[in-house]
Amino acid sequence: MKKIVILFSGNGTNLEAIAEAVQEEKSIEIVCALSNKADAYGIKRAEKFGIKTEILEHTSFSSREEYDKALVATLKPYNPDLIVLAGFMRILTPIFVDAFKNIINIHPSLLPLFKGSNAIEQSFNSDMKVAGVTVHKVTSELDSGQILAQECFNRDGLNWEEFNTKIKEIEHRIYPRVVKKLLLG
Ligand code: GRF
Repeated sequence: MKKIVILFSGNGTNLEAIAEAVQEEKSIEIVCALSNKADAYGIKRAEKFGIKTEILEHTSFSSREEYDKALVATLKPYNPDLIVLAGFMRILTPIFVDAFKNIINIHPSLLPLFKGSNAIEQSFNSDMKVAGVTVHKVTSELDSGQILAQECFNRDGLNWEEFNTKIKEIEHRIYPRVVKKLLLG
């Protein structure tokens, strides 16, 4: 059995897409979904799938390092084969990144373009004819690890809402696929 931990901070639509996709896989289990925000809607989505949830709020810690130490201590007992960041709005220190072998993230732009938290806005406001989504390995340098998957689309004529819908549609399709590929080959 391959074990996944999902970290998130908000809505959790990617969490849900992965939960749906691995439901059919007898050899993959989401052993924990952890949020750094107690009011994240993703908690409800995880519960709907019967996934164990944890809340570890960053506001109770004095530094990133202290938070990451607590995060490592919370997650180590789950012994995950893969940690999946799904809208986890934290910059991770080497304390966390070095503690686990396999951590991946999904980012709503064609990396290395538009790193950081307002990637969709940057991408939408750029002069580029294409936009897209990237799944990448996580290192301690923000949005800079090895690219595992990338998909682009023609954004000509799309308004802000349509642009966001397209990003989400791609995310929900490619992230589960990468998770399965990494764990099952
Ligand atoms: C996604 O757009 C992802 O690319 C980014 O955070 C967002 C999370 O969305 N890293 P959701 O909470 O999964 O709906």
